[in-house]
Formats: sequence, structure tokens, C-alpha cells
Amino acid sequence: MDMPLPADPRVAAEAARRRSFAIIAHPDAGKTTLTEKLLLKGGAIQLAGQVRAKGNARRTRSDWMKIEQERGISVATSVMTFEKDGVVFNLLDTPGHEDFSEDTYRTLTAVDAAVMVLDAAKGIESQTRKLFEVCRLRDIPIITFVNKMDREGRDPFDLLDEIEKTLALEASPVAWPVGQGADLRGVYDILHPSLRMVDSDEVIPLTGLDDPAIEARVPGDRAATLREQAELAAGACATFDLAKFLEGSLTPVYFGSALRDFGVAHLLEGLARFAPPPRPRPADARIVRPEEPKLSGFVFKIQANMDPQHRDRVAFLRICSGRLEKGMRLRQVRTGRQVPVNAPLFFFAKDRQVAEEAWPGDVVGIATHGGIRIGDTLTEGDALNFQGVPSFAPEHLRRVRLDDPMLAKKLRKALDELADEGVVQLFRPLDGSQPIVGVVGLLQLDVLQSRLRAEYGVPASFEAAPWTTMRWMASEDRGAIERFAAANRMDMAEDHDGEQVAFFTSDWRRRRAEEEFPMIRFLPVREQH
Ligand code: G4P
Repeated sequence: MDMPLPADPRVAAEAARRRSFAIIAHPDAGKTTLTEKLLLKGGAIQLAGQVRAKGNARRTRSDWMKIEQERGISVATSVMTFEKDGVVFNLLDTPGHEDFSEDTYRTLTAVDAAVMVLDAAKGIESQTRKLFEVCRLRDIPIITFVNKMDREGRDPFDLLDEIEKTLALEASPVAWPVGQGADLRGVYDILHPSLRMVDSDEVIPLTGLDDPAIEARVPGDRAATLREQAELAAGACATFDLAKFLEGSLTPVYFGSALRDFGVAHLLEGLARFAPPPRPRPADARIVRPEEPKLSGFVFKIQANMDPQHRDRVAFLRICSGRLEKGMRLRQVRTGRQVPVNAPLFFFAKDRQVAEEAWPGDVVGIATHGGIRIGDTLTEGDALNFQGVPSFAPEHLRRVRLDDPMLAKKLRKALDELADEGVVQLFRPLDGSQPIVGVVGLLQLDVLQSRLRAEYGVPASFEAAPWTTMRWMASEDRGAIERFAAANRMDMAEDHDGEQVAFFTSDWRRRRAEEEFPMIRFLPVREQH
């Protein structure tokens, strides 16, 4: 077993100033607007609006082809790096459409914290809840931003109560709004007594809620209301507790308006102050600490044709330990192959630039001509595999129908590469029949069809497969899986990694199999490694 090496102080210092996070939100809550404003704060983009083209377009099915054409934009925003006051932020974007939820889940394996954006009028919505559950599974600490406070919305107490009740997450207001809707004047910072007013970057220090300076800024009844509400909040709501936040059981709550650029700086300060830097990460061989001198990381996303001028493919590597240097050769642990990293890419909003070096918490793009898969671990030599990039049992299974049988070989190669990228899952039936593709969301099939045609020149369509569901299998008793496979040969396949899977024609059949083979666990999720 590999032993961890002593910490490298430079790696430790660089890791300590990194914050890698994602924004989770129900569509329309304001994720795109907030992203823009965060990037502006970090000087990563000069003009607001660059992220928007994608924000609105990516959600609707009919707009998918347009996204394809605008891929340059849509992909450059997958990772956005910006720096503010000595802290390096890596914002990892997640697709807005729920058909791409697999992509989102994989991206969430590569962050250390998440910002949950709520629309002040709507509170927790269905997609917020689903994404939150994924964060909870991974104990990802969550900072809440209640957005659209410049509009009439729900009572802040009511929103805090909803977070606590529906997510079973303690909600601790770190700011309290002064007014709401047209009446919004600013927020009172509960943790560091001060006022922040709308349309101003000034932070007005206060001695506390009884500071008469409040009246100078918040005249009349409003000061009294603020005192009353903030005191009530201090008494009734959870007090901020860093340890609870880091373990994922408490969320600090900020209030603001992304559109008016209000509360965004406060949120960013909160991320810098409270969100964790990269933490030790479990691998199969041992736990890897970020400050170790040797590089390790895992691929959570692969994107083809980022630049329409060059038919390239970029693997997004989340660095977990050590220092990445341009020109390094890394070991792809799954195959033992060497991967040269000649031009690691960094992403600054719309641009990408070659990085000279990168550190734990960073995400770099590595150009590849195939062969790298989602879930792959790359190291400076250590034989270890990070765990936790999940595959989900597809909800739709289809046979691929090829219009031109002469293209069968090309189709096989294309499907292999697209499965490496995680566009679809690929299964090869053990009886040797046509490959089966599986998707979680139907929109993935549109993507597959369009890319097969555009990039590989293979026109293909899909037809119903006899099965509705599949499961991976695990058992202490290897013989049990063999017996099951022998009895169900027509319904067995191998996944892209050569693991045996079972297909079922109905949920009822799956339950029967579970009853008949209690020694086999039929798994709806598989963690790749
Ligand atoms: P999303 O990425 O989460 O889907 O949301 P997005 O930022 O695209 O915002 C959705 C809508 O909400 C946009 O309006 C946006 O301008 C608005 N919005 C975002 N933040 C705030 C806020 O703090 N206050 C108010 N009042 N509105 C906000 P739209 O009309 O759909 O688009 P647009 O025409 O403004 O671009």
C-alpha cells in the first residue's frame, strides 16, 4: 500500500487559498445572473451578459441545436476561475436541464462546497431539493443565497423555516434584510455587526443592533422593524456554527439581489471565509491529503469539440493533491498508460489559457484524443483510484439502429468514445446482439443522435429495447452472480467497464429477481473507479 508523503508547504499554502464550488438552483432562481455578478467581482469578465446566452438557451429542448452552435460559450463556462483578495475561486457550472442530471451529479463530486440559490418568492423548489439531496449524500457544505429580495417575496422567517423543515438543515441567517421588494434598503450583517446598503459597496460598521448609527441610514420605522426582526432571528434561529456547516448540517443564509448586484460581495466574502479548501479525499488505497507533494486527481467531465476550429476533446481533471506542472506525464491508473499534459487549460469565463501550474482544488482541462474516461484517476505514479464518480441506472434503454450497415465499425468506435465522455451509457448484450444505449434523461438521446451524425458522420436512430430497467450486481458469493447470469443469459450485458449488468423488462421482474437471489445486491448506482 502506498504511504502518504510528508506535506509540501507550498502545495499546502496554495490548496488553503482555493475554494471550489458549484451553484445549485431551480431554473429561474437566478443562477446565471449570480454567476455573472460573481465573475465580475473577480474581474474574470468585463461585461455582464456573456454567461447569459447559455443561461436562457440551455433549458429548452428545442434550443439544443443552438447550444451546439454556441458550444464555445456553453463549454467555456463549465469551469470558471477567478481570484479575489488572494482567494482563488473555481466555480463549476452544472447544466440547468434536469435531463442532464448525471452531468450535474458528476460535477458535484468535484466541488468542496455549494451555493444554493433560492428565489425569495418561491423558496425551495423541486430541482433545488433534488440537487440538495446529492450534496447531502456527499456532505457538501451549503451556503444559501436568498435571491430576488428586490421583489415582493415571502417573509424571511417563513423561508428559513421552510429550509429547516423540508431539507432538515439548520438555517442560520448571517444577514437580515432591511425591507423587501421595492422597500429593500440593505442588509444588517448579524455575524459582524454592520450595514450594507443597496447600490453601495460601503460596509458601515456598527457596535450592534442598538447602535444609533442605524437611524442615520435606515430612517423611521424601518430601524425599529430591523431591530425587532434581527433580535427575534437571533433568538429563534440557529446560531452560525462553522463545524456544523462543514459537516453539512447547517447552512448560513445570505439575502440579496443578483440582478441589482446586492449581497453578492457579502456572499463571496462568506465563501472565502467559511467554505472549505480542498479536503482529504478517500481513494481505494488510502486517504489522499491535498498537501501531499505528488499530483493526483480525477476526471469528472469530458467535453468534445470545445473549439469548433480544432476537433479536440478535453478531459476536466479535478486536482486532489500535489502540483500540476505543464509538461508532466501522468499515469492513468485504470490502464497504466502515460498521459502527457503538455498544455493544461485553465478557464477564465469565456477564455481558456494554458496554465503553467495548478494546485489542489483547481480544475484543468487536458486535451485527449480518446482513451480517457469519466471517473479515471490520474496520478504522478501512485496506484490509487478515487471513488465516487457515480453512474446511475438509466431510465431509458434503446437499441441503436444504423441506417447504413457499412458504418457498423464506425458506429462502434463512436459509441465507445461517447460513452467515455458520459454522453450515454453503453451496454453490450452477452448474446452478441446490437449494443444498447441507456440514458437518464431523453434529451441525452438527442445529443447522441446529433453528435453521431455531426462528428462521426453516422446517421443512426433508436428503437425500443425490450427492457425498461437495469441494475449492477454485487455479492459476496461470486457463484450467485454466475448462477443468475446462467439463468438469465438473454437479459445480461456488460457495461462500458466490462461489469456484468442485469436488464429487466419490468419493475415487477426486477423485484422477483431480488426475491429469488437475496444474496445478490441489485444496485441502481455504481461508483466508477
Ligand atoms: P437561472 O440561471 O437560475 O435559470 O436564472 P437567471 O439568472 O437566468 O434568472 C432568471 C430570471 O430572473 C431573469 O429574468 C433574471 O433577470 C431574473 N433575476 C435574477 N436575479 C434577480 C434578482 O435578484 N431580482 C430580480 N427582480 N430578478 C432577478 P428573465 O426576465 O427571465 O430574463 P432577462 O430577460 O432578465 O434576461
